[in-house]
Amino acid sequence: MFSKPIKNIVILTGAGISEESGIRTFRGKSGLWEEEKVEEIATFEAFEKNPKKVFDFYNLRKKNLLDNNISPNQAHLALARFEKNFPGEVNLITQNVDNLHERAGSLKIIHMHGELLKIRCRKSDKVFEFTKPLDENILCPCCGQIGNLRPHIVWFGEMPLELPKIFDLLKKCHLFLAIGTSGTVYPAASFVQEARRYGAYAININSEESENEIYFHRVIKGKASFETEKLVGEILGQGFRNDF
Ligand code: APR
Repeated sequence: MFSKPIKNIVILTGAGISEESGIRTFRGKSGLWEEEKVEEIATFEAFEKNPKKVFDFYNLRKKNLLDNNISPNQAHLALARFEKNFPGEVNLITQNVDNLHERAGSLKIIHMHGELLKIRCRKSDKVFEFTKPLDENILCPCCGQIGNLRPHIVWFGEMPLELPKIFDLLKKCHLFLAIGTSGTVYPAASFVQEARRYGAYAININSEESENEIYFHRVIKGKASFETEKLVGEILGQGFRNDF
């Protein structure tokens, strides 16, 4: 029985929330990691060994995001509406590197795995907006040198961004909602347990099974667009069932 009033909500989103907008997920039948070996793309070692291959991979993702009429779907829009209209606080943590939450109108967003449309200087750690394709010959805006820029992406073996803030939010949250994430990549996959440790009620939305599904009180199987909009309507309409 969940009895605390819900004031603070934390939402964790993964690739599944952007799937209906036309962005490929990482795992599953048509997932990106079915085609590419993770260790040849998404590690710092891979970048040092073959920067061109890594730049090409992210340049293609960027081109797809910018050129293909990709836009936020009902799930992104529902979360933005939720943040605006919920009388308490709604914080969004996303593992996604696309900008669809921003474009939908969400304001409180943490991109824990970085952002596709940004680059970072390896020397200063300064981050810049950058929508063009990136390669080894581009001058760094802060140090004026070539070879220092990298995608602003958190690779395997690197520390996700803003973890202290995230753990603070999880500590204070009353409702933890995960949407479209396989629950396989840590630490994000453990956020549900962390939130529950402090008494949060937890709901998962996924069209398939998430690997960490057993840790949720309520599991909703279905497409993110439909189910997110429905759940947001349920909570905003105060019809949220918190008694199971
Ligand atoms: N609605 C709901 N869920 C969906 C939908 C949809 N339309 N489409 C796919 N899903 C679910 C899948 O069932 C899967 O469980 O979304 C999940 C996507 O899983 P992943 O591809 O593993 O994405 P994610 O969990 O975000 O991956 C985490 O892994 O490679 C890294 O850094 C990358 O941030 C990424 C991290």
